[in-house]
Amino acid sequence: MNLNDYIASIEDYPQEGVTFRDITPLMANGPAFAQATQEIVDYAREVGAEVAVGPEARGFIVGCPVAYAMEIGFAPVRKKGKLPREIIEVEYELEYGTDLLTMHKDAITPGQKVIIIDDLLATGGTVKATIDLVEKLGGEVVGIAFLIELKELNGREKIEGYNYKALMQF
Ligand code: PRP
Ligand code: HPA
Repeated sequence: MNLNDYIASIEDYPQEGVTFRDITPLMANGPAFAQATQEIVDYAREVGAEVAVGPEARGFIVGCPVAYAMEIGFAPVRKKGKLPREIIEVEYELEYGTDLLTMHKDAITPGQKVIIIDDLLATGGTVKATIDLVEKLGGEVVGIAFLIELKELNGREKIEGYNYKALMQF
């Protein structure tokens, strides 16, 4: 099945001139969601991932089923103020200003092989901050998986040198 058929494109959302790629029809379709998950599982196995890491909120939706299927753990990346124990934090770029992303200090063990999973690569700010968090904890980023890459935003430049896979490109 062609996964592209399950992405809705919404013109002028959230602002004029932007075409928003909406993954909820893919999530709503069992076989499409399962196929997307399986394609990321195959990639994660290929790169030898031992733990999955994903940023809130949509990184959880895509990353958790992959971790479940592989019987590996999932470590969440959260916006500041959400994780209850000792954390590390990194700044990341938003459209206007910056914010903090955090992980629990014990979420990754040094030397662990990590796959980062998110729904979408846009400017690359989120994934870059996630890489920084994982590496601060001593993890090795062996792969990065997205459902979608928005090519014209050039986010791939922020992950140069890292192995990554996007199931769809727009
Ligand atoms: C979206 C998306 C990615 C990120 C991509 O998340 O799910 O995580 O933006 O953009 P970037 O490459 O320019 O950083 P968002 O921050 O909107 O949070 P959400 O998943 O909670 O909606
Ligand atoms: N779709 C979903 N999330 C996004 C997009 C998009 O087109 N652009 C930036 N974040």
